Amino acid sequence: MPGPVKKRDTAVKLLAWYDVHRRVLPWRAAKGKKADPYRVWLSEIMLQQTTVQAVGAYYRKFLTRWPNVAALARAKTDDVMAAWAGLGYYARARNLHAAAKIVAGRGGKFPLSAESLSELPGIGSYTAAAIAAIAYDERQAAMDANAERVIARLFAVKTQLPKGKIELRAHAQELVPVRAGDFAQALMDLGSAICTPKKPACGSCPLEKECEARRLGIQEMLPVKAPKMLRPIRRGAAYVVQDKSGAVLLERRPAKGLLGGMLQPPLGPWTNDFPSSVRAKMKAPFVAPWKKQLGIVRHGFTHFELEIEVYAVQLVARPLHPGRWVPVRKLGSMALPTVMRKILDAVLHTNSARKR
Ligand code: ADE
Repeated sequence: MPGPVKKRDTAVKLLAWYDVHRRVLPWRAAKGKKADPYRVWLSEIMLQQTTVQAVGAYYRKFLTRWPNVAALARAKTDDVMAAWAGLGYYARARNLHAAAKIVAGRGGKFPLSAESLSELPGIGSYTAAAIAAIAYDERQAAMDANAERVIARLFAVKTQLPKGKIELRAHAQELVPVRAGDFAQALMDLGSAICTPKKPACGSCPLEKECEARRLGIQEMLPVKAPKMLRPIRRGAAYVVQDKSGAVLLERRPAKGLLGGMLQPPLGPWTNDFPSSVRAKMKAPFVAPWKKQLGIVRHGFTHFELEIEVYAVQLVARPLHPGRWVPVRKLGSMALPTVMRKILDAVLHTNSARKR
């Protein structure tokens, strides 16, 4: 797709399409209005590795509770983690809170360029570009997966991802017009509505004539992705303990690492196989008449699948244990990640993993 005129045409056509078809999303400013950097930042952090659909309710909840960066900076970390529970990738919530404190410490002023935004915790080069484009119209190409697919097809880029990301970004960068924020979001919306991974609706695409992949008939083959790695399975046992009143014993995970700082019922080690029931009882937090529950709790993490067998007990007297006892009605507002909710549900049947 050569030539500066053609490039300008492409941006003009895409923006004209966006002006008619743009999605109404909770973090978007009204047409022609500038977006608030706090809202853009919050949405972009939530949208890392998470779908637009999953983010909506969380975004509204955060904004109602913490309407500006100063309010978020004043929040307790545990309240932020609890409000994030279910969204996954919890380091994002920690970094969000850390960044809020930094920005609030500078009088609530967000850094004004992609380069300075990327110095804040949790803001990598994609997120910095997206915030700078959307909030400030800085001429930055913000390449989420939807935008990457559109550009890969438009320029028929055959380099395998993730290696091809740099090339895709360079192509997109050449197209970015003055309305950089709308352009970024137009690419995302086009990728979501028209230029879909399978069976793209090329007949309805404003860029059909410019699209090199369409011309070659290879649009469904692009972008070329690295083959998915098989995820190993790790297995272990969890222990759901209730006291006489039904309150559940929870402990806090170490601050660093997977699900850092979140709460969980006591858990045994994760290995290739489930422990035998004798071993599971040996590894339990204390001696008790543990009852193994029917079925297995499964949860997918990025790099492995987890399978957990659940052991449960209700005790008349609380055993000595450094954890905390939480009434069942309060579990919904605790910093419990989805996998831990699934484990509790296997015993309590409160469906709290799904209800959130
Ligand atoms: N994905 C990441 N950022 C987005 C945005 N601003 N709009 C829609 N989808 C997105």
